[in-house]
Amino acid sequence: MSSKDINIKICVLGLGYIGLPTASMFATHGYDVLGVDVRRDVVEKLNKGEIHIYEPGLSTLVEAAVKSGNLKAVSSPEPSDAYIIAVPTPVTKEHKADMSYVENATKSIIPFLRKGNIVILESTSPPRTCLDLICPLLEGSGLKAGEDFFVAHSPERLMPGKILKELIGNDRIIGGINAVSSEKARDLYLAFAQGEIILTDSTTAEMTKLVENTFRDVNIALVNELARICDKINVSVWDVIKMANRHPRVHLHNPGPGVGGHCIAVDPWFIVEIAREESRLIQLAREINDSQPDYFISNIEKIIEKHGPGAITFFGLTYKPDVDDIRESPSFPIVRHFMNKGYDIKIYDPYVSPSGFPMALSFREAVEYARYLVFIVGHREFALGNFSNAGKIIIDAGNILVNCKVSSDCLRYTLGSGITHSNA
Ligand SMILES: NC(=O)c1ccc[n+]([C@@H]2O[C@H](COP(=O)([O-])OP(=O)(O)OC[C@H]3O[C@@H](n4cnc5c(N)ncnc54)[C@H](O)[C@@H]3O)[C@@H](O)[C@H]2O)c1
Repeated sequence: MSSKDINIKICVLGLGYIGLPTASMFATHGYDVLGVDVRRDVVEKLNKGEIHIYEPGLSTLVEAAVKSGNLKAVSSPEPSDAYIIAVPTPVTKEHKADMSYVENATKSIIPFLRKGNIVILESTSPPRTCLDLICPLLEGSGLKAGEDFFVAHSPERLMPGKILKELIGNDRIIGGINAVSSEKARDLYLAFAQGEIILTDSTTAEMTKLVENTFRDVNIALVNELARICDKINVSVWDVIKMANRHPRVHLHNPGPGVGGHCIAVDPWFIVEIAREESRLIQLAREINDSQPDYFISNIEKIIEKHGPGAITFFGLTYKPDVDDIRESPSFPIVRHFMNKGYDIKIYDPYVSPSGFPMALSFREAVEYARYLVFIVGHREFALGNFSNAGKIIIDAGNILVNCKVSSDCLRYTLGSGITHSNA
């Protein structure tokens, strides 16, 4: 199998944010791709050339892949040459990696596994998953890992909102259970990957992916802690960060209302699970980031206590700007707190409208509804918004409205800027 050998069949298990773009990319590069998902609605939509998630450019790519006849979706695997596993790896309530999806996906491959096949794990996974979970399960077929079939980890570093660009352009780490596995996996991705492909062993690749997200989590915890300190001493953490980052070796992140998503809020726990005693800083960072929504809530309450009661509109439910992904989003504990306390609230998010929440239908309706406007997520629509905000009290979790005009009779509070001290 080489990059020029497109006469091979690829089976992608899991057609979500990672699997669907990957499957479509291989299909539009001439490969025969079978997309497998346990969700019937995902399979049905895909076969009509439609998608169930929002990602810029993805619907055009998927439509092209399906129309070319190279991408077909089904509910269970069929015999293929390469299998790519891109199923969820969430964390349990006890902060342990939930590997049940990877386990089930791997088991579903066993009846079809043949000599010469390669199985690639894309799901973010704890170190030694390829060696201790995938290989023993697949060897249940009677074939020998590393000799009859090959296994590699190829973690994804894709940023939602830029997935298609990064899928092609990012450098990629590929770690096989042996050198042949690494090389076979690399040859496959050469179909479209333009970034450098760095080969290593499977456990190093697994650990590298976890370390990347842990780096970001720890750095966000640092600035979230600095935001609290700056609130206390009434200086702007945003000014401090801007100025500190003029130092050639300082690169501070941005604080916010907490850390969400399927990766940064989850992956550090996989390291903690295997090395609890050694991972004190990583655990502390998780605690700081997990308690940040509570910190923001307490500040909103202080501001309401100061100015008196009024309706509140919350802007943004997703875990980051301009995506439709709400997994682990810190917006939910914040919004639920005020719902449960009986506040008169509305929520506005241009990307999602979950049931059970009092959603406003437009930005304008959302602004007009309440006296308190709480901006949690910096969707482009809010950040660029020039809206009539006369008489409003604006509470901003992330310097979201930094470039917006605010009426002179309007109060603005920003997290990390002495939040209980307004611009007034
Ligand atoms: N979303 C991201 O930004 C991102 C970035 C880097 C890495 N990752 C990692 O990639 C993996 C997948 O994440 P995602 O965001 O694509 O998840 P997702 O939830 O969007 O998609 C996963 C899909 O797998 C399907 N599935 C579950 N079990 C299955 C099985 N046995 N067979 C076939 N399909 C099955 C689900 O129905 C779902 O549609 C995770 O390990 C995640 O940590 C995600």
